[in-house]
Amino acid sequence: MIQSNVDLQPYNTFGLSSIAKRFAAFRNAEELTDILSQRGNDPLLILGGGSNILLTKDFEGLVIKNEVMGFQVIENDDTSVLIESGAGEVWHEFVMHCINEGYGGIENLSLIPGSVGASPMQNIGAYGVEIKDTFDSLQAYHIESGEVHSFNHEQCEFGYRESVFKRALKGQYIILSVRFRLSKKHELNTSYGAIETELKSLGIENPSIKDVSTAVINIRSSKLPDPKKIGNAGSFFKNPVVAQEAVDAIAENYKQFPQYPAPNGKIKLAAGWLIEQAGWKGKDFGSYGVHKNQALVLVNYGGSKGSQIYDLSEQIIQDVESKFGIKLEREVNMI
Ligand code: FAD
Ligand code: EPU
Repeated sequence: MIQSNVDLQPYNTFGLSSIAKRFAAFRNAEELTDILSQRGNDPLLILGGGSNILLTKDFEGLVIKNEVMGFQVIENDDTSVLIESGAGEVWHEFVMHCINEGYGGIENLSLIPGSVGASPMQNIGAYGVEIKDTFDSLQAYHIESGEVHSFNHEQCEFGYRESVFKRALKGQYIILSVRFRLSKKHELNTSYGAIETELKSLGIENPSIKDVSTAVINIRSSKLPDPKKIGNAGSFFKNPVVAQEAVDAIAENYKQFPQYPAPNGKIKLAAGWLIEQAGWKGKDFGSYGVHKNQALVLVNYGGSKGSQIYDLSEQIIQDVESKFGIKLEREVNMI
């Protein structure tokens, strides 16, 4: 059933009010075909958990909420399992399900908000792991033809917070299900950030995948604001990947700053550090601002407009560029 004039406030983690002209949910490809047959000329917004969008105005089109559910083991052998999840499942619940079944590989991605179906869109990542490390394939509905197409790893063209669905195929597909190859012989990845320190403080010497998940959950909960309490969409910008010259220029004025090796001899800098040094951390404009503990997170304290948060992001981009010569790119999708 297609509803009219639906406020999207409960459907986005920024908690922003935005009226959608029409709104419908689907549970399978048949329901999706039926909804799309009534689309007319309306622009579309495919919605998962709404945790990586900024609604800058009312949406004069058709919002389609993905509610394709279910987990299914496709292959199972002594060392690994191929598991499929419906795109509408909550990502963290999928991670917990896999951990409880003893399937390893995505425990470092615990507590990332949103749906399984959106996870390949930007190749979600945290604590040294990205979904590309365990991704097998996905099924996606081609909007123009109504056909369901399969995409393997290579076809998705994953990069840092990137995939073909954000670039060449933007707006053309609706992801219906995703398959992951997970391991029964666990190789833990605890070298990133504070995971080892957290495990130590929990008194754990030989961690299981569940322990790593708990450590990641504890670290994330201490660093990032809970969208149920303060509206946000996680990191608003990507960490910039730059050439050595840009790093040398910063080093003229700063002795030490976070930097990490990236592919092709490039270097990844911490956008949060750049924004903090530019003086934006904790800036409070009443109903919105920059989070006080994490300058990479823009927040809606309540009652803000998406356009105000957009304008703030524009000011930050311009200021960081003028101070450091580095142009930040938004990670969050502007709607
Ligand atoms: P939505 O916000 O609903 O959609 C995001 C984009 O994908 C939109 O353009 C939408 O149209 C499109 N889309 C959604 N579903 C589909 C589909 N089935 N088919 C086609 N297109 C689709 N991300 C990280 O990578 N790492 C993190 O550590 C991380 N931490 C976060 C912490 C917090 C507190 C928050 C609020 C967000 C964080 N994020 C992080 C961002 C976010 O969780 C991810 O981007 C997540 O994958 C978004 O999922 P979603 O279902 O909410 O997507
Ligand atoms: N930093 C500052 N000031 C700040 C914030 C960070 O100086 O205000 C410094 C930190 O001290 C640290 C460095 O920047 O040295 C990196 O900070 P952090 O470890 O908090 O990670 P991040 O780079 O800010 C990235 C991802 C997160 C992911 C974490 C953990 C991006 C854009 N963000 O954040 O992903 O959870 O690493 O792996 O890559 C998201 O994409 O929404 C997201 C939350």
